[in-house]
Amino acid sequence: MGEIRSVGVVGGGQMGSGIAQLAAVNGLQVWLHDSDSASLSKAMNNISSRIQTLITKGHLTKEKGSEALRNLRCTSSLEDFCCVDIVIEAIVESEEVKKKLFVQLDKIVKPSAIFASNTSSISITRLASATSRPSQVIGMHFMNPPPVMKLVEIIRGANTSEDTFNATKFLAERLGKKIICSKDFAGFIVNRILMPMINEAFHALYSGVATKEDIDDGMKLGTNHPMGPLELADHIGLDVCLSIIKVLHAGLGDTKYAPCPLLVHYVDAGRLGRKNGIGVYEYG
Ligand code: CAA
Ligand code: NAD
Repeated sequence: MGEIRSVGVVGGGQMGSGIAQLAAVNGLQVWLHDSDSASLSKAMNNISSRIQTLITKGHLTKEKGSEALRNLRCTSSLEDFCCVDIVIEAIVESEEVKKKLFVQLDKIVKPSAIFASNTSSISITRLASATSRPSQVIGMHFMNPPPVMKLVEIIRGANTSEDTFNATKFLAERLGKKIICSKDFAGFIVNRILMPMINEAFHALYSGVATKEDIDDGMKLGTNHPMGPLELADHIGLDVCLSIIKVLHAGLGDTKYAPCPLLVHYVDAGRLGRKNGIGVYEYG
């Protein structure tokens, strides 16, 4: 397995657009695809304005910024991923939809390429089983926002090869990240611990322990978290949080992981968080 020079990112939402930006800024050739054309254009616009901000703030030279934009191409067709060295999928947190995508990609992408999933919680072993290359499937879990957060969690599936692991680790380090390794259990390390806290914050709000502001201030000022748990849930997306909590509940089989009814109710009502202007809080 040679050095990774090109990346295909699937999903141009919060995570995919951040991963594509990070890869392009670090000199990789990047294809970005989203099945929704409006999301794809929004992703490209967001990336170019964020690169502009990096230039304005002096974090990137004008030349490096232009080079990053030249490294990045968007496409409405997955066929353009035929020659990439690695695919990083960052689509909706659904095992069924991710498996369908991997089946499709398996027929298109060159046999030596790695399939990495940015899943927050879903079994890498099960995603790998949908492909003809399970030894080349791995979890590469970036944190939100990917250009800023320092961590990538790497998850080996039951059949992930040492070569796949080493190439993915090398890529994460080239992108400036510290890596941690998790076994393939629901929610891995970060969400196994983070999501029960977020779910508990919803329970505290639901049962009237305190206001949302006091719950968040309690954790921000009382435990030095950069965001309170409810604010963080809005940042992640309440739909994403609910999907992860459901995977924890199903995969670990303990009622302590059951989603709080208030979180379910907000998602049912279309309150998805910052991304659509209303979650626990409203955004102007
Ligand atoms: N993309 C790129 N850069 C961004 C960004 C984005 N979406 N959002 C903020 N930034 C940059 C800003 O430009 C700024 O850069 P400079 O320091 O160079 O000026 C820097 O980040 C800090 O931003 P702000 O000053 O606007 O705001 P802040 O100081 O409040 O920081 C934050 C924002 C980094 C998001 C911070 O609030 C934070 O760390 N929050 C917690 C985030 C967190 O916990 N993420 C992990 C969630 S769990 C997860 O991701 C896993 C999962 O599967 C759900
Ligand atoms: P998002 O809703 O912001 O974006 C998902 C994007 O995927 C959308 O633009 C959608 O149009 C696109 N999409 C959906 N199905 C597709 C398909 N079959 N083919 C191509 N594009 C498709 O979601 P997000 O928050 O960026 O999360 C994406 C993934 O990253 C999920 O697996 C999530 O669990 C994981 N993740 C999320 C966070 C977070 O904080 N939001 C952090 C780490 C990991």
